[in-house]
Amino acid sequence: MDDLVLARVLHVLGIVLWIGGVGMVTFVLLPTLARMQSATDAMAFFSRFRQRFAAQARFSTLIVGLSGFYMVHVLNAWPRFMQWQYWWMHMMVLIWIFFSVMLFIMEPRGRRQSAASVQQDVSPETFAKIQRKHLFLLILSLITIAGAVAGSHGWLIARS
Ligand code: HEM
Repeated sequence: MDDLVLARVLHVLGIVLWIGGVGMVTFVLLPTLARMQSATDAMAFFSRFRQRFAAQARFSTLIVGLSGFYMVHVLNAWPRFMQWQYWWMHMMVLIWIFFSVMLFIMEPRGRRQSAASVQQDVSPETFAKIQRKHLFLLILSLITIAGAVAGSHGWLIARS
């Protein structure tokens, strides 16, 4: 039982660090960069920032995934994936897969490519586009967090 509680604590800490960072990037960093005089300088800063953020997000993602699957195993919660009332379980795994692909495959690949080539055309609209994508992911993550907290503590959509 204690190790289930520990897994839950690690799960939530990982999520706070990871999704909190996504919120900060969406609401603080990207709007600030979009207002900078030189969009090229802003993109150079963003690339360095992203590299550092990705390193800590990779660590948090790993903790969230390991603790999450451990809890599924201990709670014997695999059948939940066949019940729509547990939509937040599907959402957790989907968000985790998406971010893992971005952080472990796309980000290192993008870094290699931008090191090899000159920075492409950047404009304030580039940041607006990146911000829209981050906002979409953030909203999805917050809905999932709300559903997961409610569902884990017994507030499920009634079975018909
Ligand atoms: C591999 C991916 C993941 C797996 C296997 C997983 C699995 C789990 C499990 C089994 C629980 C406990 C459910 C219960 O007590 O009934 C849980 C709780 C939770 N998960 Fe995940 N999860 C994953 C990713 C995520 C992600 C990406 C988020 C955030 C977007 C998230 C947010 C939460 C939250 C907020 C709770 C509730 C904690 C509480 O209030 O006790 N999880 N997760």
